[in-house]
Amino acid sequence: MKRVFSGVQPTGNLHIGNYLGALRQFVDLQEENHCVYCIVDLHSITVEQDPVVLKEHILDIASLYMAIGIDPKKSIVFVQSTVPAHAELAWVLMCNSYTGELSRMTQFKQKSRDSESAPTGLFCYPVLMAADILLYDADIVPVGNDQKQHIELTRDIALRVNNKYGETFIVPEGRFLREGARIMALDDPMSKMSKSAPNEASRISLLDAPAKIKKAIMRSTTDSDGEIRFDTKEKPGVSNLLNIYSSFSGKPVSDIEKQYAGQGYGAFKKDLVEIVVDSLTPIQERYREIRHAQELKDLLQEGTEKADVIARKTMTRVKERFGLGI
Ligand code: TYM
Repeated sequence: MKRVFSGVQPTGNLHIGNYLGALRQFVDLQEENHCVYCIVDLHSITVEQDPVVLKEHILDIASLYMAIGIDPKKSIVFVQSTVPAHAELAWVLMCNSYTGELSRMTQFKQKSRDSESAPTGLFCYPVLMAADILLYDADIVPVGNDQKQHIELTRDIALRVNNKYGETFIVPEGRFLREGARIMALDDPMSKMSKSAPNEASRISLLDAPAKIKKAIMRSTTDSDGEIRFDTKEKPGVSNLLNIYSSFSGKPVSDIEKQYAGQGYGAFKKDLVEIVVDSLTPIQERYREIRHAQELKDLLQEGTEKADVIARKTMTRVKERFGLGI
């Protein structure tokens, strides 16, 4: 069995980009692998969070994990800050990474807006992510395309440590989906769909009511030629909608193009609304069942205990290799 690790930040409800780009794979992977899924609260405080809201978001994401089909009997689900080894290993890895490589991370550049002084945590964010992955000896890391660079860095750090100190870490591989690997904003198909974009209509959250989904899709940015054709350069808006349609319905893009040939955008968008609403309704029902149940916290506690056992073992190995401790 291979070990799988992935994480999601508790910064607002998940949107369909997170779901189609990463989380849906989490569910498939748990059938034949040993999966560890984390709610990365330490990553989320690299930008300012309201503590009361953050606590709620952690439980929201945990409930969504369960609602999309992650089964805590098969997979470990836990909150990052409840396992101290994440921060501990991150420090060791920071001593084996370079300001040059961290400065090149596009997410850091975007989030710091190239300002001269940015929070150190934001700068070291990818190193903490490497620690998450390496701590669990993960072979596979299912993520959206936007995390590619971070996975590369994780591999570089793992190889560097292995070369310097002897075999310490498994060198992990990213797993990216082709379709749906990058879902773009509905109001601006040149930027990725994001939890933090100010315009609510730019995304569809997994918990959105049908009316909100309808509004966001019907108003989504397309173009004026009325042709339903996949062409990310000339027709990024329509291509993004085709991608969403295909990912939720399982139909190949070419079949969808044929189905709507000569029909304009209205009918296509209307059907897309129905497909998205029908796909999200069962997730929303399961979410409501678990969100306020005591069972949720019990499951997370069990997850912490299981994750902690694996993490401690890795830290013992790391400390031995580095000559740390007594
Ligand atoms: P986060 O919380 O931003 O996103 C969670 C997952 O969703 C994917 N994703 C997308 N996929 C397609 N289209 C989009 N518009 C889109 N937006 C987000 C992300 O690629 C991600 O897989 N750094 C990570 C969290 C993390 C992590 C880790 C992941 C921390 N430690 C260790 C894997 C392994 C992040 O910010 O995800």
